[in-house]
Amino acid sequence: MSETANTSSGRVAVITGAGRGIGAAIAETLRDAGYRVASFDISDAAPEGVLGVACNVTNTESVDEAFKKVEAEYGPVEILVANAGITRDTLLMRMSDEDWEKVLDVNLTGAYRVVRRAVRGMVKQRFGRIVATSSVVALLGSAGQVNYASTKAGLIGMARSVAREVGGRGITFNVVAPGFIQTAMTDVLDEATQKSYAERIPVGRMGTIADVAHAVKFLVEDETGYITGAVIPVDGGLGMGH
Ligand SMILES: NC(=O)c1ccc[n+]([C@@H]2O[C@H](COP(=O)([O-])OP(=O)(O)OC[C@H]3O[C@@H](n4cnc5c(N)ncnc54)[C@H](O)[C@@H]3O)[C@@H](O)[C@H]2O)c1
Repeated sequence: MSETANTSSGRVAVITGAGRGIGAAIAETLRDAGYRVASFDISDAAPEGVLGVACNVTNTESVDEAFKKVEAEYGPVEILVANAGITRDTLLMRMSDEDWEKVLDVNLTGAYRVVRRAVRGMVKQRFGRIVATSSVVALLGSAGQVNYASTKAGLIGMARSVAREVGGRGITFNVVAPGFIQTAMTDVLDEATQKSYAERIPVGRMGTIADVAHAVKFLVEDETGYITGAVIPVDGGLGMGH
């Protein structure tokens, strides 16, 4: 085997929210690196060569069913990327309980549901790689995103706690914290807002979905077994110092 051969090849990876955007890019990157990849998404879309499994992360039974499908098709899940996320942006004083609860249920409790289900099998195999998609706003804060930023900060506490619980079983749990990445989520921002963000980013541009996928690929490799509980910024330096 050459020094550059990827020993992770063939491992089974589940990406939630891989129907489009960042999740789809992660799924394609891992697929191209030889992983067997499944997308858990409420939408029917899944990248080519990726097993599309209908799953709503707000429902524990749906999560369990989806895991069973992947296990039947590919075998035990070794890699999980908890990426599904939504926004319901509005200022605190206008935020409804529903705006809060919906975002918590998908972004934070949804991640908890898939992580809990995945960890069972990983503990048995004494191997696992988990990555959650947080955001630069977790530590920076963001006016109009009290619900969203709370979930993204919560993922860090989740990752670090699970990392402590199962670190001895060969399981790592890290967090990527993307900054402003060009996707459907940021396309809704008006041009002036997008320009003002770019001006605040030290590398001078919005991020790409490939930028995030590259960081995730590194974190899930077999060789990346000594990094856990880390928050990896993929934000062009926007959040430096936090
Ligand atoms: N785009 C950015 O700039 C940015 C920045 C930081 C963090 N993030 C985070 O990255 C992740 C992906 O963002 P994106 O921009 O690709 O979003 P996106 O809206 O393009 O894609 C999200 C995917 O999640 C799926 N999804 C939504 N609710 C779901 C549910 N209940 N169960 C299963 N799947 C569900 C959607 O169908 C969609 O395919 C999110 O967690 C987001 O918060 C995005």
